[in-house]
Formats: sequence, C-alpha cells, structure tokens
Amino acid sequence: MNQIKIILYALLSTFLFQSCRPEHTVQPDDGIAQKVEALLSRMTLEEKVGQMNQYSSFYDVTGPAPSDGKLKLKYEHLKKGLVGSMLNVNGVKEVREFQKLAVENSRLGIPLIFGFDVIHGHKTLAPIPLAEAASWDLEAIRRSAEVAATEAAAMGINWTFAPMIDITRDARWGRVMEGSGEDPYLGTQIGVARVNGFQGNDLSSVHTLAACAKHLAGYGFSEAGKEYNTVDMSTSTLFNVVLPPFKAAVEEANVKTVMNAFNIMNGVPSTGNAFLQRDILKGRWGFDGFVISDWGSIKEIESHGMAANLKETAMIAANAGSDMDMESYAYVTHLADLVEEGLVSEDKIDEAVRRILTVKYELGLFDDPYKYCNEEREKELLYHPDHLEAVLDMARKSIVLLKNEGDLLPLKRDQKGIAVIGTLASDKNSPLGNWRLGSDNNTAVSVLEGLDTYCTYTYAKGADLSTGIEVFNQDLTINTSDKSGFKEAVTLAKNAEIVIMVLGEHGMMSGEARSRTQIDIPGVQQDLLEAVYEVNKNIVLVLMNGRPLAIPWAAEHIPAIVEAWQLGTQSGHAVADILFGRYNPSGKLPMSFPRSVGQCPIYYNYFRTGRPGPRNEVFFSRYIDEDRTPLYPFGYGLSYSKFDYSNLVIDDSDQKRIKVAVQVSNVSDTDGEEVVQLYINDKAASIVRPVKELKGFEKIALKAKTSQTVTFELTDKELGFYDPNGDYKVESGMFDVMVGTSSTDGLTGSFQLK
Ligand code: BGC
Repeated sequence: MNQIKIILYALLSTFLFQSCRPEHTVQPDDGIAQKVEALLSRMTLEEKVGQMNQYSSFYDVTGPAPSDGKLKLKYEHLKKGLVGSMLNVNGVKEVREFQKLAVENSRLGIPLIFGFDVIHGHKTLAPIPLAEAASWDLEAIRRSAEVAATEAAAMGINWTFAPMIDITRDARWGRVMEGSGEDPYLGTQIGVARVNGFQGNDLSSVHTLAACAKHLAGYGFSEAGKEYNTVDMSTSTLFNVVLPPFKAAVEEANVKTVMNAFNIMNGVPSTGNAFLQRDILKGRWGFDGFVISDWGSIKEIESHGMAANLKETAMIAANAGSDMDMESYAYVTHLADLVEEGLVSEDKIDEAVRRILTVKYELGLFDDPYKYCNEEREKELLYHPDHLEAVLDMARKSIVLLKNEGDLLPLKRDQKGIAVIGTLASDKNSPLGNWRLGSDNNTAVSVLEGLDTYCTYTYAKGADLSTGIEVFNQDLTINTSDKSGFKEAVTLAKNAEIVIMVLGEHGMMSGEARSRTQIDIPGVQQDLLEAVYEVNKNIVLVLMNGRPLAIPWAAEHIPAIVEAWQLGTQSGHAVADILFGRYNPSGKLPMSFPRSVGQCPIYYNYFRTGRPGPRNEVFFSRYIDEDRTPLYPFGYGLSYSKFDYSNLVIDDSDQKRIKVAVQVSNVSDTDGEEVVQLYINDKAASIVRPVKELKGFEKIALKAKTSQTVTFELTDKELGFYDPNGDYKVESGMFDVMVGTSSTDGLTGSFQLK
C-alpha cells in the first residue's frame, strides 16, 4: 500500500513540477547571459518592475492569507510576480512558503531571492565585526563569514546584506560595531575576506550567499556621529578613504550586490546619486551585480528635499542606478508609469532587471527555487560543533589586551580568592551584540560560565546596567542612580585576592540608531569600579562594548584591562581562555580609543596640518584641556609575550618593488603572535597626504626566544593616491616608512621614489 502511495506521489509531483515549471526553463548548457535575455524578452513592463521590488516579511505565511491593507497588497503582489525579493524571511519553512507564492502563482514563475542581515553569524554568532577586525587575521575573518553563510543558507537565505565596509572614525556613531574601523587599507582587506567568505568559490552552492557591500557611500562619516545625519566630505577623502573598500569588493572579490546609503554625498542622497552608482560603481569599476536601496531610502529622497513626491523619488533613484527598491513602494507604484511617460527609459529598467536576474541564475534559483530549502540540512548545520569552534577561535583572536601592569595576567590556574563583579559577567545576551536577527536570545556563554571551567569565584553584580524599562521592544534604559548593590560587591572585593570586573555597554547600545554623546562606561559602573578600587587595587577590568570607549580613569588606575567587545556565542570561553593564558592575546585596535568624547572623530591617519607643533606652547594643532593623542592608538594591543623590533632594512634598488625588512624577536618565555605593521608617509605630494598610512601588515606566530624577518613590498598600489578627480597617481619623492607594533611605535627609515 505504502509503495503504491509513494509511486502515485512521485507521478503526481512530477506532473505538478512539470506543469508548474516556469516556461522559461532553458537548456542547462545555455550561458546565463542568454537565459537572462530570453527571459527578459518575454517579460511585461510590470513584471520587470516587479523584479526591482523588495518587501520585508509581513505575516505568518503558514497561516490564513491577509485580507486587507498593506499585508494584502504585498501578498497579492507576490502572486502576480510584482516582487523580486523578500527580506527578513527566516527559516526553511517560511522561505519555502513565500517562494511557492511567487513561483506557483505568477505568470513566469520567477523565483524570489531572499535577503537577510547576516552580519556576524546567523544562529551561531561570531564576534561583532569591529571585534573581528581587531584580530587582523584575514583567514579567520573569511572563515567566520563562511560559517555565517553556511548557517543562513541552511535556513533558506540566499543573500546577506553584509559586509558593511564603511570606514568609521567616530566612536559616537553606533554602527562602528558593524564595520572594520578607521583604516581604509585594513578595511579593504577585511571587506574582501568577508565577501570571499560569504560567496565562496561557487555561488550556486547551497552553502554560500550573495554578499552585499554597503553602504555606498560615506555613511560612516555622519556628522558628529549622529545617526542618519549629514555627510559632507572632500573628494580626496571620498576617493582615498571611503571608496577603496568598495572598489576592492567589486574588482577583487566580485561582490554580487551593493547597497546604497541613507546619507547625502555632495548634496545628493546616495540612493539618487548617479555619480556614485553609475559613473563610479557601474562605470569606472565595471560592477555587474545589482544595487539595492537601503530600507526606505528611495522615498527618503523626498524627505531630503530633492523630490516633491514618491513618484519623483522613483524617477531619480532609477535614473541614478538604484536597481532594487527596499520597502519604499516607489518602484512598484510608479516606475511603469514613469516609463510610459518617457521619464525613465525602458533600457534602464532592462539593465536593472538583467542584473537582478543574473544573480538569481548564478545562485541556481532557476534550476531549483527550493534548493536552499532542506529541513534536514537546516537541522544538521545550525549551531554545528565546527561552527562553534570557528567562532571561538575568532573570539579569542578578537580580544585586545590594553594594559597589563606587573604582568598581572595571565592568572595562575590555581589562583585562589577570585571575586567577579559586574552584571555583564552573568549576561548571556549582551555578549551576542547587536545585528543578530537570525539568532536566539540568551545563547552566549557568559563570562561566569567561561570561568567555571577554570576556577572557583565569588560573584556580585554590583549594579544593574539597565533599569528594566523597555524602549523599542529591546533597548533598555540605563541605570544612573541605583547603587544598592555596591555594598555587597565592595565586601566581596575586600576579601578577595584578585577582582575581575566585567563592565561596559549593553549589547543593544551600539548598532543602527544607537549614537551616543557620552562614550564612557555607562551608568553607575564607573562609580562601581572606583568603589571597588578603594578596597582592592588588584583589578582585571574586562570591557564589553560595541565601540571604542573613553576610559581615562581606568587606564590610569586599573592594572590590567582586557578589551573583550561583544564576542558572540562563545564569549565567556574566549574571555576565560585569555585571562588564564590558554590563548595569548594577539588583537590590535582597529579604531583609536579617545581620551574623551570631545576628541571624536579621532583617527591616526589625519591629514598633515600647517601647525603640527609643538612649535611653541600655544599656536599649534591641539586642545587646551586635553592631550591631542588618543588614549590607545590604532594598531595598539599587548601580548603576554614581549616583542622586539630591530634591523630595519629598506632596499629601493628595484623601484617597482621597494623592499622593507625588519627583524621581530620574541624576547619572552611565552609563545605568541604579533601583528607587524608597516606605515608610510608621502613627504611632499601634489595634494596633502595623511601623516601616516598603513600599507602592509603580517600576523606572525613566534615561539619564545625566536626571531623572524618579515619583508614587505611596496609597489605602485601602496605608494600612490587618488587626486580629487579620482585619478590614481604615483608621484616621485621621499617617503618615510615606519614598521612596528602599532601606529605610534616602530622603527623608522625612508627612501626615494625616482
Ligand atoms: C540598514 C541596512 C540593512 C537594512 C535591512 C537598514 O536600516 O541601514 O544596513 O541592511 O536596514 O535590514
């Protein structure tokens, strides 16, 4: 009986599959370009515009169909082939249902592409991207993105809105957590590594995703770090700082999509900016993927005051090269009319649709729209042990040792009398960080759980970080007054030999729309730190935060400080492994830590000024109430090993490949890793250049008491710059070189480029 059922089912599904099979199916040996043209030629204008429309998930798709309002509209549009993509659909079951709506109801049955913000993992979470950047370990970062892709693809997703490759210099901006920090060279390498990790070698594999380089362009330069604020920058900064990571994502990593930005560039909203999208991205760089708008950013062209109504926004964005509309309803409502009226050419529509269909073909969605939908694979791969191992490795590598006076760290395995203080120590949610829509709350290994595998300890939270009042369903307002738990904490500390304090930001205090004007340790935590210090100075401060913090008091008084960011699922294990020396810290800061918020934006590669000083005591570039240097500079980070740099040798005999060699010695008894960094300064150029620019780095492992010579090569690629027209120039003249352990500490030399 069962067998008969199976045969009948097989026959029926073959019939159904064939009858539902879109007519556009072409022979497998046809090239993708031909398939796209064949399909395009059969599409109506409305269907083409439909491909350019993206909606967010909107209802329980397995329940009854929505009967009115916007939900019904979206539902009907899906069935009519007026939607090309969905975002925020998560899980095989849901993805399959949405795909069915589109494929089985629309005339041409074109599959949807499913996008999602897979930012630092999907279920299994890696450290936040800024933390990963602190590893300077490109292979670990690539692997982390690969893990994220594997899990997201297992949940039916085909496309991630990552990596964010905006250069970020202002710690007040909440989204610094999502990028790679302040440096275009490091940011470029990391961007390429992430795109490679997400996309792999084969986009049609069920374990890879199309990546999305975002946000084109300049979003990281929001004035005063205020979210969604004005951006106003020189073309020199645009071409030399902001655009290089995008250029490399396109030219070196073949990123399949690019997202534009909320901000203006040269007075024109990025979404309606033809210079960025048509001239630069699709023109000069030959980008052949598609551009997605940011959420609602097409309709925001009207809010910016560059369009009178939604229809005009659609015209401006389409003409400027925005290929897909995320949740503005502008294209689906107006684009066909705009074509009929001759205000947008059908050629432009065809071009956008061609790009979108090509990516769908490359993902293999036309071969099988449900290829990413497999419940068994989903079950097998989420939180897979290999993924847990990869994110633990990434988490350990992301930690930066900021201070270690008297070699207080690492702790001895038999260390007695440990007190742990701070509510973040027991928190299983904050360490997951923001941007983790696909994952599960409270799934991080807490610091306490991590310590459990090493030692016994007493614990007091000392104070709540938040008041418990919810805003936006998740944000918690900060406790600035309740110190009732201080007494217990101080008593524990008094009786302890060593105190581990875990302080910092709540996991939702950074991320989108989380700008801060104060970037100190929030709430009453600073007071708690000082109260504990009164009774016990033997403090190891573990910081958890999604942005650089200003911690001048701690830097002066606390003997050991560990920057542990938000490290994802394996947080507590990574922190404990560092504290007890199972892993020797190797991270280096990807963003400068200011002394006070008034220094922001502060970054190491600022332009040379006319008054660098200190020429006299007053009239040079400085503050009267604060040192002008950062508290901890870019590239800084300590190790339990001690490294010594010697023998800097510059060989400029081959002018096309200047060789810079340095000997690095581990002069300690502890094996360790060091990020050897090379900086240049172009001494006199046709436009003003930064005081220093990172142009090479290598992370090396050195056994105790051993040395290694590290050699860098400087070619035109490292020695040139973009002029204000965006033309690349390599100019002869003197260059200073510094090779060392951070942006402020190294051996110096110079050479002449003839
Ligand atoms: C963000 C994007 C994100 C999009 C979709 C926007 O608010 O700026 O980076 O990809 O939402 O969630």
